Formats: sequence, C-alpha cells, structure tokens
Amino acid sequence: MKSLASVFKNRLKRLREKLKLKDVEAVLINKRENYFYLSGFTGTFAHLVISQDDAYLITDFRYTEQARNQASAYKVVECSGNSIDALNEIINKIGIKKIGFEENYLTYQIFTEYKNRFSASDFLPFGKEIGELRVIKDEVEIASIKKAVEIADEAFTHILKLIKPGVREIEIAAEIEYHMKKLGASGPSFDTIVASGKRAAMPHGVASEKVIEMGDIITLDYGCIYNNYCSDMTRTVFLGEPDKELIKIYEIVKRAQFQALASAHRGLKGKDIDSIARSIISESGYGANFGHSLGHGVGIEIHEEPRLSVRGEVVMENGMVVTVEPGIYVEGLGGVRIEDMIVINDQKPDVLTSSTKEIIIL
Ligand code: CO
Ligand code: CO
Repeated sequence: MKSLASVFKNRLKRLREKLKLKDVEAVLINKRENYFYLSGFTGTFAHLVISQDDAYLITDFRYTEQARNQASAYKVVECSGNSIDALNEIINKIGIKKIGFEENYLTYQIFTEYKNRFSASDFLPFGKEIGELRVIKDEVEIASIKKAVEIADEAFTHILKLIKPGVREIEIAAEIEYHMKKLGASGPSFDTIVASGKRAAMPHGVASEKVIEMGDIITLDYGCIYNNYCSDMTRTVFLGEPDKELIKIYEIVKRAQFQALASAHRGLKGKDIDSIARSIISESGYGANFGHSLGHGVGIEIHEEPRLSVRGEVVMENGMVVTVEPGIYVEGLGGVRIEDMIVINDQKPDVLTSSTKEIIIL
C-alpha cells in the first residue's frame, strides 16, 4: 500500500487538474469532509487555500500541532480570532483573482462576507468538482470502508443472539452501537434503525421504545464510522412464525437485490442499476411500495454521490462505493429491506457486506 503522504499528494494533483480545467486560480475549502479528504486533517476547524503552487491550511491554536502532523503537504497558518483576515492575507500574498468556493456548502452569510472582504474579484462555484474527486475511492479509502463494513457484519452476528420477545428496539440499537465501538468504530454512521412489527413499514424507523414481540418482522439498518469512513447495511429478520405475505415480500426483495448486484458494473448509469431492481419489484406487483432509490454512494459521508435512483445520471466507474438496498413497505403489515455495500468493477462488483441474506427466523 502507498504511503499516506503520497495518497494526499495524488489527491492534490487531481484537484489541481480540475482547477486548470475550470480556469480557476485557487480554491477555498471549508467543508470538513472536503478538507479532511484533501489534507488528512481531522480537527473540527480548518480552511484550505489551494492554488497550483501553494497549499495552505488555516486553523487555530487548538489544532496547530495536529495540523502540522496530519497535513504534511500544507503550510499551516495559525489564526487568532477572525479567519477571514488570515484567508485574505493568503489570497493577497499569492495574488489570486479567480477563486473557487463550495457553493453547495457555504452559507449565504459567509459567502457575502467573503465577497465583501476578499481582494479576489471572481468567485466561481467549485463544490461539485470537489465532490467528483471524492466519488472514486482510492485503496486507502477502500481499506477503511472494508473494515467499517466488517465491524457492522460482526455486530449483526452478535445482535441475533439478543433479539427476543420483551426487548425494546432502543436496547437492540444501543447494543449494536456499543458492540461496533468495542470493535474499533468511532461511532454509528447514522441513527441506528430498528423497526419491528408494523413499524417495519417505515423505511427510516429509528429505534423506538417499542417492545419486540413474537411474530414481529424486524428491520435493522445501521453502520459505523471506522478511520473516518462509513458503512451502511440492512438486514430484515423474523421473530417467530412469519406472516405469509412478508415471506413472499422478502423473497421478492432478495431477488431484486441479487439481480442488481449481479448486473452492476462500470459503464452503467445509476438509473440503469436502479431500474434492474425496480422492474423486478414492479412486475411482482409492489412497485408502489418501493418508494425510495436503490442506493447511494458511501465514503466520508454516509450519503454521497453517486445516487442509484431513477434520476441517477452518473456513469459507474471502478472504485465507486455504493449501497444496493431495495425495499418493499406495506402500511399496517411491515416491510423488508436488504442492503449491501459494493465496489464497482469492470464486471461483477466486489460485494463488501458478508452477512447472510437467507431468511432468518429467530
Ligand atoms: Co442503510
Ligand atoms: Co443506505
């Protein structure tokens, strides 16, 4: 595996190619996920200014030492008080007129302040371009993601032993999160979903005080953060004798997921993969009960580009990491979702999630 320093050098190089292409002299980065991606700095306060020849990281006294250690490719500038003054000083020093900014992140208030205070004259949106860099994962990222997935898989095996009548959903969620932390996760990647019985009809039924009962279907959707990267998985299990329609629904969702996994590869658009699963569910008569998209990119953020949805125009490339998570939800009855994470390849994707998808009756 390459050294970390060379990984960040490579990311800077790719960013600078984009700057050239868009005829932008430098870019200003405020979003945490973006400055972490480009510098390796994990603190909560930083601004990056990157031009063809320079790379600055501005932070405050709490983080100066950490920034020097983590972001070795950057000149670290400690600012006291207002970061706008420090930013403007750098912009003046390197003589930038055309500056890129994160239009999809900066608030209107901060943007207005920048416009009023900076000597740069042209402000050009550059957030989408930074997102494009992050969409293909390098080997260092894939290694962290794989570990995050592995921890979630282990938590699934663990939690099956604890799902019993009389246990509340929040206890199951707490146990999943505690177990993942014991295995090295820094925390859950989003609020753990434990939706049992009729609540399973809610695709995002965050764990409640509901007591799990015999005969319930239980959807578990959760993930963790490991080394700053997220995982995301869903499994649906039964406690006691399952309802016949839910068994039928489970088999349809499983088949739709299997087909989408088997067909996903480089060159397809997000919407092409979505339609593989969607058509199977529609032909089975449950099209109206699959109200969300098939999947989403996962990386530093739990939901990022590319989207596998009816509107997904992004063409799949090797190294993209996405979820494949079809579901069918019937109000008053329950619901089923199965979610794996995959890495896009030339042919078959690398399926990271390894927990079984056979029907589990506890
Ligand atoms: Co999920
Ligand atoms: Co997901």
